[in-house]
Amino acid sequence: MRHMPHRQVAGVLICLPVCALVFTLAGAGCSSSSRARHAGTPEDPWVVGMSQCNLGEPWRVQMDADVKAAAARHANLKVIFKDAQNSSLTQRAQVEEFVDQGVDLIIISPKEAAPLTRPVAEAYRQGVPVIVLDREVQGDEYTTFIGADNVRIGREAGKWIRERLNGMGRIVELKGLMTSTPGQDRNKGVLEGLGLDKNPGLQIVFSGEMQWLEPNARREMESALATNPKIDAVYAHNDPGAHGAWLAARAAGREKEMVFVGIDALPHEGRQYVQQGILDATFLYPTGGDEAIDRALAILRGETVPKKIVLGTRLFTRENIAQGGVAIR
Ligand code: FRU
Repeated sequence: MRHMPHRQVAGVLICLPVCALVFTLAGAGCSSSSRARHAGTPEDPWVVGMSQCNLGEPWRVQMDADVKAAAARHANLKVIFKDAQNSSLTQRAQVEEFVDQGVDLIIISPKEAAPLTRPVAEAYRQGVPVIVLDREVQGDEYTTFIGADNVRIGREAGKWIRERLNGMGRIVELKGLMTSTPGQDRNKGVLEGLGLDKNPGLQIVFSGEMQWLEPNARREMESALATNPKIDAVYAHNDPGAHGAWLAARAAGREKEMVFVGIDALPHEGRQYVQQGILDATFLYPTGGDEAIDRALAILRGETVPKKIVLGTRLFTRENIAQGGVAIR
């Protein structure tokens, strides 16, 4: 059944007549904290629209799987998944479609901050709660953001490299998509962690944007290798990037010359690379799928949730991988 949208005027939520009727029938109030269009019962479950920026990367497949598994534990909730295939335009259209469809809540893991800011804000203004997951949008017109602290992860990676190299060495940085917030934050963090001003022996000798993708990382690393006779560490903004760099170094017979550090630590990806001796370290980047469903239910029940929910990280190295890594406090 298709319901009419709500209108929010000067902070007061005014429901259109159809909506009022639906709410009366469903026994739900029409207030700014409870805007659900469905009853939230197994017979009439809440409908959540989930827009994933792409499913070409294993970490994102895992995020959708985590959302799905968490949602399956609640008969009063149904999730509709959409894959934006790495296009911000497609993702914008998906958010608009979800609003038109009358979903009760939207979860979005946006490709890029700027182009997704407006559609998210518009959905939110129309009374649809929006959970922004992992990558951020600009401003604060959404219900809650859930994700790990990427500046912190970058800083920990920088510290790890600085200590491992004893404050002396030549570093390659392979950046994620720099129009997405994790790319920006992981770069900011590593610079803080390396502390280049206090450690003049450390240098970033090559910096390339691999946009989260292994083939791009491999290509960038080929350039880094060609122009740098000595490299001591590679810091890639994700594990596919670190793996691509390792492949390029191995093809050049130079993989033993340097350490490789990545981020994500999926069990069947980064952690496996550490076990295989390919990566030296990787930092957990939790998908937040579980938390997103928990918070979605809280919002739909009319509870207030914090504006930002920060997830923790863990460090996995060859030394601690068998023990499940260590929590970063
Ligand atoms: C997947 C991914 C992850 C990375 C995250 C950052 O698309 O690139 O590897 O940690 O996005 O948003």
